[in-house]
Amino acid sequence: MDIQPIIPDDYRAIAFFTGAGMSAESGVPTYRGRAGIWAKYNWEEVACEEAYRRDPEKVLEFHALRRQELADCRPHRGHAVTASLEDRHAHVSVVTQNIDGLHQRAGSRRVIELHGSLWRLRCPQEGTIYHLGPGDESPVRCRCGVWLRPDIVWFGDCLDPEVINRATEVIGGCDLLIAIGTSAVVWPAAGFPQLARDQGAHCIEINLEATEMSFLYHASHRGPAGEVLPALFPTAIMA
Ligand code: OAD
Repeated sequence: MDIQPIIPDDYRAIAFFTGAGMSAESGVPTYRGRAGIWAKYNWEEVACEEAYRRDPEKVLEFHALRRQELADCRPHRGHAVTASLEDRHAHVSVVTQNIDGLHQRAGSRRVIELHGSLWRLRCPQEGTIYHLGPGDESPVRCRCGVWLRPDIVWFGDCLDPEVINRATEVIGGCDLLIAIGTSAVVWPAAGFPQLARDQGAHCIEINLEATEMSFLYHASHRGPAGEVLPALFPTAIMA
């Protein structure tokens, strides 16, 4: 792959901004496109507050199935590169729209999950959080008797202001932004590449294809994350 490697120490703060394409090579389907989740499921029936109020069991089943699918997925070389850079550089963060937890499984510690996590359920009444792991039984009701809710930002939900603040700080404060595998159409995340660019960061896109935001980047690499990231950071210690 003909890619000019990046020298991490040339940058003060590196931010990875990831979407579903980051997880695609791990076997997690993306959302949009022909093989995407929203081609198979109607989000209005499984991924919004209204659907949950109408039929919580169906919504919980959809998310339990997604957790089951994830149990067979493993982080790939791209995840390993981002995680190992965090060990070698003082300011490396991941801001992700993904809810699959693959960055953390690869060893990344500074991860901001904009859309929550499939691995958490919360009680809408008490606020109690239930943490799950691969292979765990999925409870459907809180011990108080109320239906649990996936701790996920669905269509129509507001993002946690505290999470947005932390992400804005990371993206607005970086001098190298690498956006990976996102169609960047869902707000407010879609505004992050522009924010980084406005703050003077060098901005790089990794995606199989051009996106509506491609014009913003100083460089765009058309290829899979699992190949482009190791080529960009050949010195990163591979897991
Ligand atoms: P999308 O499914 O919209 O976009 C995935 C992007 O990844 C596309 O631009 C693909 O071209 C690219 N891609 C696919 N495979 C890739 C690979 N191996 N390497 C690099 N790029 C690849 O996913 P997101 O942008 O993450 O929100 O979607 C954003 C949000 O919309 C999601 O968090 C979810 C969704 O609906 C909610 O559920 C609220």
